[in-house]
Formats: sequence, structure tokens, C-alpha cells
Amino acid sequence: MESLEFNKVAGALLGTALFTMALGILTDIPFSHAKLAKPGYDLPEAVEASTGGNAVAAVAAVPFATLLASADPKRGENDTKVCAACHSFDPGGEKPTGPNLIGVVGREMGSTSFAGYSDTMKGFGKKWDDEALNTFLTKPSDYVKGTKMGFPGEKSPEKRADIIAYLNSISGGAK
Ligand code: HEC
Repeated sequence: MESLEFNKVAGALLGTALFTMALGILTDIPFSHAKLAKPGYDLPEAVEASTGGNAVAAVAAVPFATLLASADPKRGENDTKVCAACHSFDPGGEKPTGPNLIGVVGREMGSTSFAGYSDTMKGFGKKWDDEALNTFLTKPSDYVKGTKMGFPGEKSPEKRADIIAYLNSISGGAK
């Protein structure tokens, strides 16, 4: 009798234990995760700052034509004070340090009476237009290799647009 009682209690305990174990296994299932290849979350990769590339290309987000459309020749005139150290902006004016820039847009490159042109400039065989001026003024030595223009370049696309709008305005252009 006593052993039967014991068996009942033991059976009840065992049953409870089994049930708890089964519950444990079952409840684990919804919470189990597929193993991650890499621990942690997938975060967006940091975009490497390009070191090699052309800074100009990165800035080209706003097309130059758009900048030029909203450029201000008056501001440009002010920005060419630095150019006037070498260039004359007076009709017929001459300076020994740089060619006259009146009428430069649409003019053959290296074609004034200025004596100090580099061979590259004289032999470039192209006319100055907005695009060429933009590239040249970004970094003169990149566009005209061996240029004698001792000016490192204007980094601001907005300023270049203003300057080119001004150069257009003194070249008989409509801009
Ligand atoms: C330190 C003097 C100097 C400064 C400053 C300078 N230039 Fe020049 N520039 C020159 C010389 C010299 C040349 C001729 C370069 C060559 O033949 O390689 C030249 C050439 C040019 C030409 C080509 C002209 C042609 O007849 O083909 C343009 C356009 C020009 N410069 C624009 C500018 C502008 C715009 C600025 C100001 C943002 C400027 N330059 C600042 C000295 C200068």
C-alpha cells in the first residue's frame, strides 16, 4: 500500500518534470534563432571617403550649366580682382603678365598679342567656351599642361560660374 502511494507521488512528480521539460523544449522553438554568419546586426557599410578620385567629379552633383544659369556677372567681376593682378580687363589694355580677357569667350586659345603664352596654350587648337573655361579655372595646370598661368585654380564651382558669367558679359555674349 505504501509503495503504491509512493509510486503515485513519484509518477506525478515524474510526469510534472517531463511536462516541464517538454514545455521548455516547445517554448524554445519560437525563440530559437538561425545562427548569424556574423554576430550582431547588419549596419550599413561606412562609405569610404574617396582619396584618389577627382574632387571635381564629386562636386559635379549640381550640373555646371545649372550653376551658370543662376550665376551673377557682378559677383564674378568682383571675383576677378585676383585675376586682374595679371590680366587686363580693359578693352585694348595690355599687361606683360597675362593676356587681355576682353572677348575671351569664343576666342581661339592663346591667340592674342600676349607674348608670354606657353606652347601648350598656343597649340591647344580649341576655342574658349563655358565648359573649357570651367575646367581650366578649376585647375589650370590640369587642363593646359605646362601652362604659364601661375594661378592654382578656383575651387568653388559657384565662384567659377560667376567668373565665367562675367567673362561672357565682356565677350559680347548675352549672359
Ligand atoms: C599670376 C598671374 C595670373 C593670374 C592670377 C591669373 N592668370 Fe590667367 N593667365 C595667366 C597667364 C600667364 C596666361 C597664359 C597661360 C599660358 O599660355 O599657358 C593666362 C591665361 C588665361 C586664359 C587663357 C587666355 C587666352 O588668351 O587663351 C584665361 C581664360 C585666363 N587666364 C583666365 C584667368 C582668370 C579668370 C583668372 C582669375 C580667376 C586668372 N586667369 C588668373 C596669368 C594669370
